[in-house]
Order: sequence, then C-alpha cells, then structure tokens
Amino acid sequence: MGQRVMIGKVSDIPDGGSVVVTINQKDIAVFRVNGQFFAIDDLCPHMGASLSGGFVEEGVVTCPWHYWRFRLSDGAWADNPKVKTGCYAVHVVGDDVQLEVGAGPAPDKGKSTGNG
Ligand code: FES
Repeated sequence: MGQRVMIGKVSDIPDGGSVVVTINQKDIAVFRVNGQFFAIDDLCPHMGASLSGGFVEEGVVTCPWHYWRFRLSDGAWADNPKVKTGCYAVHVVGDDVQLEVGAGPAPDKGKSTGNG
C-alpha cells in the first residue's frame, strides 16, 4: 500500500470536473464523476497532452489532442488496454480527498483546470 496524500476537500472538485495535483514532480489528474473520484497521470502516452481537460463520458476520458480514450478506472487505453497511463486509488475520508501514491513528499499545489 502506498502513501496517502491529502489533495483537498470533496467540494474542491465539482462533479463532472477535474483538478491537477503535482506529487513528486508528477502531474496527476483527479476527476469526479457522479460523485466518484478517479486519478490518472495527467499525461497522454501518445504525445504528452494533458488529460485533465479531456471530455469525460461513461468513465472514459478522451484526450483533447488526438482523441485517444482512457478508462478512468485503470488508466488503460480503451482501444488497446495494453497501453496505459498511471492510475491511482482515491480515498474519501469524511470531507477529505486522499490520493494513494508511492512514498514521497506532499503535493506541491493544486490547480483547477476549469473542466466543468
Ligand atoms: S496526445 Fe493524446 S491522443 Fe495524441
């Protein structure tokens, strides 16, 4: 089990929206969909686009650059699950949202993407 890092309050991420947090120099996109939270690397493995600004539908985010689609539940490319981006467990404890990551320092900051 990895380290849990508090990334904010439930109310910080509007339903249907996303935020980006930076942990260990890595940007992670956190999505809230129908009250559930998901976290994947904010990095498309195709050419590096930010996935946090992608369109989300039925648990899949579509990369805004060339429309590759990634499952929020496990980071897999929906069209070829052998290709994946990083995926992280998200825990809601009371009103706190915690991201489970490998050991390391606390997040640098959170920023809204304006996605929703
Ligand atoms: S950069 Fe994401 S599909 Fe091309």
